[in-house]
Amino acid sequence: MRVLLTAGPTREPLDPVRFLSNRSSGRMGYALARALLAEGHQVVLVTGPTALRPPAKAKVVPVETAEDMLAACRRHWSDCDAVVGVAAVADYRPARHSGDKLKRTEGQGLSLELVPNPDILATLAKDKGGRLAVGFALESGDGKVEALRKLRAKNLDFVVLNGPEAQGAEQASLRVFDAIGKERHLGPARKPTLAKQLVRWIFGRIPA
Ligand code: CTP
Repeated sequence: MRVLLTAGPTREPLDPVRFLSNRSSGRMGYALARALLAEGHQVVLVTGPTALRPPAKAKVVPVETAEDMLAACRRHWSDCDAVVGVAAVADYRPARHSGDKLKRTEGQGLSLELVPNPDILATLAKDKGGRLAVGFALESGDGKVEALRKLRAKNLDFVVLNGPEAQGAEQASLRVFDAIGKERHLGPARKPTLAKQLVRWIFGRIPA
């Protein structure tokens, strides 16, 4: 299979030196890319900025913003058989991007206006036909109901539920749900181990 995989955070610029982002390290996405490659699949890794070395055998497409990520994914989606959305996409971006550095005004606050970013995974999965779509759901508390809502709303075949403590961490616990509500617990384990188990569970019955 040829798998389109999004990973890492996105960065939404405010001015030439500042951006909005999140704690995603890219570890889970890169571990999944490695696990897929090890099983003989091809991987197009569309990645936000991370400190990690990408797997040598992946086709790596570096991006910064959510809009760049969507554009890059759209270019590759028609050649792929599956999409796995692991990226922690910033849901909002500053309404205005200043070409000059914003200046501090003594004694005055600053309000930021934010506008919504596109939902990358939902946009791709909407027209997936018979292709496979897998998403992650990052929820605080018991997120099962919300994870299953995302599975349906984004037209996914599987959703992987994790908590905020997984972001940026080396270890995690995951719950995987399929479209008929079957559930599987994985971990706690290091992300490379979880990635192998996830790939076996989700792609195991599908030939490379
Ligand atoms: N996702 C995406 N584009 C977005 C937001 C999310 O592709 N703009 C993908 C993520 O990669 C993940 C899934 O959608 O696979 C769910 O992401 P999550 O942040 O849990 O959910 P949101 O849809 O952003 O909902 P909320 O933040 O309100 O919980």
